[in-house]
Amino acid sequence: MSTYTYEAALKSSQKSSWKIEDIIGGERALDFSRPFMPESLARTAELDFLDAREKRALNQIRGHAYLNIFGLVEEFILPFVLDHARPQLSGDDWRVRALLQFAGEEAKHIHLFKRFAEEFRRGFGERCDVIGPPAEVARAVLAHDPLGVALVILHIEWMTQRHYLDSIRDDGRLDPQFKSLLKHHWMEEAQHAKLDTLMVEALAEGRSRDEIARGVDGYLAIGGLLDGALQKQAELDLAALERATGRRLAGAERERLLAVQVQANRWTYLGSGMSHPEFLATVGKLDPAQRARLESVVPAFC
Ligand SMILES: [Fe+2]
Ligand SMILES: [Fe+2]
Repeated sequence: MSTYTYEAALKSSQKSSWKIEDIIGGERALDFSRPFMPESLARTAELDFLDAREKRALNQIRGHAYLNIFGLVEEFILPFVLDHARPQLSGDDWRVRALLQFAGEEAKHIHLFKRFAEEFRRGFGERCDVIGPPAEVARAVLAHDPLGVALVILHIEWMTQRHYLDSIRDDGRLDPQFKSLLKHHWMEEAQHAKLDTLMVEALAEGRSRDEIARGVDGYLAIGGLLDGALQKQAELDLAALERATGRRLAGAERERLLAVQVQANRWTYLGSGMSHPEFLATVGKLDPAQRARLESVVPAFC
């Protein structure tokens, strides 16, 4: 079992709390002369048939997709956390308050990502389509085993930590406004990762090895669903790039761009969470065989 507590998570979260108005609006605008995403996630450098302006446009389109995909996953995290809190509203006061704070922060993040997406649309000047709609994705995800859903949420929280610490924090080229969004999101997600670990442990309690395996089946099934959607997103991003640059890609260049971007999406949203040491450690505590099972599929998403 982890050593995390609801009380400590709530106190840390109250300390790092921020308001949307502190991050966006007024003088603070996106700078479209800069990239929005770190290269380790965007993977545009190797597309040598694109010039610098085209690579930057693709990078920003990926940033727009990131806003929307996070908005979309948080739309299933919010009801899931509320449903998890609901049956035990009396008893452990720290638990109730920590989970409601968690849900409140995710509602705020959904709002924040929407505000950034609006700013993006105003400044970018071309339509960028995204997968969804979020309510439909949420319905499909929430239909799976609750342990599987909780594992997906844990994966997403650790993934956010990794994106910021490994590739965003020290990247001086990124648009400061976009970077500020990712920093503030990271600050609150750090507590979510701990609360999610507690949720996973609660949902796994009393389950047999077979029942744990069924939870991991659910996690992998949701991963498969998201993987399909991300492939579609790579095609939507290519269409947006063509609109933004007025250049049509064909033949080998088109294939290459899609192959690189599908894999970039896989790493951004699947591999970077699934291979996170803390995520694997939690799965390993449920059953070492399930950890080994996940480690065997990770390379496909790197
Ligand atoms: Fe969030
Ligand atoms: Fe979160």
